[in-house]
Amino acid sequence: MITRVNLHPASCKYLKLGHPWITEDTYTKRFPKNDFFLVGVDEKNRQEIALLINDPEHKNVKARLWSLNSEDWKKDCDFKSELQIRLKNSLQRRVKSNTVNERENFYLVNGESDFLPGLLVLKLKNQILIQYYALFWKKVESELLEVLTYEYKLVFPDTTLEDIWIQERNFNQAKSIRSISGKSISEFKLKEYGINYQIKINEHYDFGIYTDMSAIRKLMRPYLEKSKSLLNLYSYTGAFSLFSLKLGATNVVSVDLSAKYLHWLDDNIALNPDLQADLHSTLCMPSDKALEKLFLEKVKFEAIICDPPSASSDGNTTSSALKAYEKLLPLMLNVLSQNGSLFVFLNTHTISWNKFEEKLNQIIEMSEFKNQMIVGKRFKLNDDCLPLKGFHEGDYLKGFLIEFKNKGNS
Ligand SMILES: C[S@@+](CC[C@H](N)C(=O)[O-])C[C@H]1O[C@@H](n2cnc3c(N)ncnc32)[C@H](O)[C@@H]1O
Repeated sequence: MITRVNLHPASCKYLKLGHPWITEDTYTKRFPKNDFFLVGVDEKNRQEIALLINDPEHKNVKARLWSLNSEDWKKDCDFKSELQIRLKNSLQRRVKSNTVNERENFYLVNGESDFLPGLLVLKLKNQILIQYYALFWKKVESELLEVLTYEYKLVFPDTTLEDIWIQERNFNQAKSIRSISGKSISEFKLKEYGINYQIKINEHYDFGIYTDMSAIRKLMRPYLEKSKSLLNLYSYTGAFSLFSLKLGATNVVSVDLSAKYLHWLDDNIALNPDLQADLHSTLCMPSDKALEKLFLEKVKFEAIICDPPSASSDGNTTSSALKAYEKLLPLMLNVLSQNGSLFVFLNTHTISWNKFEEKLNQIIEMSEFKNQMIVGKRFKLNDDCLPLKGFHEGDYLKGFLIEFKNKGNS
């Protein structure tokens, strides 16, 4: 018999609306520590409303939704069979989409939107990277590995599965990553949209390419195809820079604070004989300083991409990305050509689309570009990384296209 627990009225309301998390409150403090499943009860209506997976070790998400179907908790829930069904659906969704033909990096499982809460699974060429955002997955790790390996081999019968890596994310600053073969690191190349990238698993917290951005890169293709020059701010290992070079840009400048990532970017270019390294240059400095320098040099770009981390540091001060736009946005507009496209991103669920848009408009209105710009098209997570409707925490990556109103009249 699964233990019943009363839920906060707000949790009941949000669960019914499709939100899959129970965050810490006075009710979760009374949850038992050792049970895997719990049935959440709406105290006021004396109604059992959800089957939850208990996560006492997690700092703030104390339980996650497993099912809203009462049949699933009337009997003892067979976790392994249900896991198998959900994993199978999740993997089959990917193989049916064209993504598998376009890139060797994609999400096989995207957490809540695949009804596998707190679990991300990436395919990186012939390796799998499992990321736990909920700690209860550690308790069912052997079942997960068994079912995942089985389903993977069914869905990708012609590829070998070289290794599986497991990483616990967001729980502390450590990398916390291990491989089931016992290997300590892995370096290999993979292709995204026909471009080679160097992957390094377990050398840094991240492995060299942001796969949640991959589907967004594809949406940006029509704009980048038209742009002969690109300024890639917060470039990391240069996925956007290489993409733009591949699409025919003749002047690409990548800016990052980290010399290590810029070297990695150069190595990535060298992995692609069809890309011309002399059309690319790097600036190893804070983005605002790079913008000031480029403005003084009177350089203009047809495309600018700005994808800062949610909290960024220039080495001295730390500021939130939203606040950083107060300084960055006018500087970027200074170096954007009249026909240009500026893409600005925010990497946090804590700021809504409307708040981000409002802030961008406010900054523009206070600047010398007042009444000249349009904050337009939105670039959202999609494809293999589509967020669940009603789950705003999953909708963490937000991008806007900003253009001159009189674009094309000049
Ligand atoms: C979210 S990643 C960018 C990912 C990249 N757009 C992509 O899709 O591959 C953020 C990068 O910003 C860099 N960074 C952090 N603070 C910076 C700053 N003030 N100026 C320039 N780069 C910075 C980090 O070194 C890191 O490489």
